Amino acid sequence: MPYVVTQSCCSDASCVIACPVNCIHPAPGEPGFAEAEMLYVDAAACVDCGACTTACPVDAIKPHTKLTDAELPFVELNQLYFAEQPHADRTPLALIPSVRRPAREARVAIVGAGPAGLYAADELLKHAGVTVDVFDRLPTPYGLARAGVAPDHQHTKKVADLFAAIEGQPGFTYRLNVEVGADIGHDELAERYDGVIYAVGASADRALGIDGEDLVGSISATDVVGWYNGHPDHQDAPVDLGTERVVIVGNGNVALDVARILTADPETLVATDIASLPLATLRGSKVHEVVVLGRRGPAQAAFTMPELIGLAGLSDVDVVVDTGGEPIVADSAKTRLLAELAGRTPTPGRRRIVLRFCTAPVRILGTDHVEGIEVTRTRLVEIDGRLEAQACGEPEVVPAGMVLRSVGYRGTEVPGLPFDDVTGTVPNTAGRVRPGTYVAGWIKRGPNGFIGTNKSCSEETVSSLLDDLDAGALTAQGTRADLDAWIAAAVPDVVDRTGWQAIDADERRRGAAIGRRRVKLLEVDEMVRVARAARVGGTAHGRRRLFSRV
Ligand SMILES: Cc1cc2nc3c(=O)[nH]c(=O)nc-3n(C[C@H](O)[C@H](O)[C@H](O)COP(=O)(O)OP(=O)(O)OC[C@H]3O[C@@H](n4cnc5c(N)ncnc54)[C@H](O)[C@@H]3O)c2cc1C
Ligand SMILES: NC(=O)c1ccc[n+]([C@@H]2O[C@H](COP(=O)([O-])OP(=O)(O)OC[C@H]3O[C@@H](n4cnc5c(N)ncnc54)[C@H](OP(=O)(O)O)[C@@H]3O)[C@@H](O)[C@H]2O)c1
Ligand code: SF4
Ligand code: SF4
Repeated sequence: MPYVVTQSCCSDASCVIACPVNCIHPAPGEPGFAEAEMLYVDAAACVDCGACTTACPVDAIKPHTKLTDAELPFVELNQLYFAEQPHADRTPLALIPSVRRPAREARVAIVGAGPAGLYAADELLKHAGVTVDVFDRLPTPYGLARAGVAPDHQHTKKVADLFAAIEGQPGFTYRLNVEVGADIGHDELAERYDGVIYAVGASADRALGIDGEDLVGSISATDVVGWYNGHPDHQDAPVDLGTERVVIVGNGNVALDVARILTADPETLVATDIASLPLATLRGSKVHEVVVLGRRGPAQAAFTMPELIGLAGLSDVDVVVDTGGEPIVADSAKTRLLAELAGRTPTPGRRRIVLRFCTAPVRILGTDHVEGIEVTRTRLVEIDGRLEAQACGEPEVVPAGMVLRSVGYRGTEVPGLPFDDVTGTVPNTAGRVRPGTYVAGWIKRGPNGFIGTNKSCSEETVSSLLDDLDAGALTAQGTRADLDAWIAAAVPDVVDRTGWQAIDADERRRGAAIGRRRVKLLEVDEMVRVARAARVGGTAHGRRRLFSRV
């Protein structure tokens, strides 16, 4: 039975190297890899060895026989890829780039312990004589893999095991709870390290720029995501679920994540790592319907096919497709599934997610609180080769107590680095800002792609850094001991790997006590206290047990 790639695939291509017959595509370097929504197994070539499952960090590959009913559409999706892209000229084995030997030892600072930062660290540590110090402004690493990925996507969160293996390698040092640009400056880092890689992500949100956006009840999906995922910056997000209908503007994967969580049966989330207050809020929620507004048509929907299949397979929530009466031209996997969903009959009384297309927001309505949103129908016009939405028809009011904008994330300026205000990224060439300063991940290429997309992105950046090292363009001043002393003086509450492991263990222990995967610590001070306790001898829990025995 062939193996099949399923929903949680994050496109990191670890399976490609593991496969003995090179039947997983598109592989890095092949056309379409950078844009691929997932990778696919060629059933005709798969020899059923299972090697890919061991390599996959998120349990995305399964034998055909182990698929659930909801996952069966992935069989066709994998096959369809090869029907459209035969890859006839592939080599018998995947091409593995050789590891180069740098001209000399090097010390690299990585700012940001999200996927891009950790993939960059992993790539650097493959090279003899290279050490990395990974900084993050929070005492906890993993960026959006911890604070973005939806709690009902626990398979995806398993990527944390891969990150834990990366951080356990010799030459890796964590310097968490250090905000570069606030606690320490770029010049101070640049002077002490051969290279500084910024992998700071894109944490801000984009605004709609329409009237009513500042009303109470109009917030960003970024806020809601950070709130339910326990990000310390978003715990005060004013999420009021005392309304029957929520409208989400934008139909990317983030919008689908939020729509799923707001319509989920809270009891199905108990065993996850959702933060405690959101879980309690969801238990008291009145939300019955979430309307996801796409300004363009079904064929242009920003959500990906794996996520749509996941949505279509929900057993306790109806998915309704509303095109305003326009027929769906079912000429792709995505439009065929949307057409099938459009034909389903909703079950009265069940919570529902409405995927509404060709509808653009005009203004958010209400006096002191959101009461609805005025929308207009759109038609598509081609502008510079892209189909854009243009308003047409009469405005219509959709009553709603909360309006969430989910129209993309946005990078913010990094002190000491150039910044492109239009794209919200740091201008770079193959990750190089200038010799000694580099970028990777969302701050490099914009807020798009999956966790694994950052792997090849970071590899490219590391390659640029090593080119500069070999060319003699990089220098670091001072010894390792000087560096340690400087950081300890500059940021007394720096959290190292032991500290992070103590936080991780503390959260898991709190969770295990009440049947949950983990109960996240929500305040930085609390995290630092737990980390500090580990530094001065054992975990707080271990000491409590010791004292109680005494
Ligand atoms: C809501 C959401 C859900 C997602 N779900 C999935 C999914 O299910 N599957 C999937 O494959 N992909 C998913 N993605 C995409 C994936 O999370 C991103 O591709 C990836 O996280 C980007 O990595 P990054 O390292 O560039 O940024 P981030 O993950 O944002 O990491 C940046 C890190 O830099 C730190 N930082 C920022 N500024 C500073 C500073 N000044 N000093 C020190 N540290 C700093 C931050 O604290 C953070 O830890 C999701 C994205 C979002 C937004
Ligand atoms: N499970 C997963 O794998 C997962 C989960 C979450 C996020 N991610 C990834 O993370 C990245 C970011 O996701 P995202 O959802 O934030 O962004 P996104 O995919 O870029 O989607 C943004 C959406 O906002 C719409 N939009 C933008 N400006 C608008 C405006 N002024 N008015 C109305 N609509 C507007 C876009 O419509 P147009 O298309 O018309 O511009 C699009 O529908 C994506 O690459 C995504 O795949 C992955
Ligand atoms: S089961 Fe073996 S042959 Fe099939 S895709 Fe996985 S690694 Fe390749
Ligand atoms: S997550 Fe990575 S290893 Fe797993 S199937 Fe996708 S590309 Fe392959």
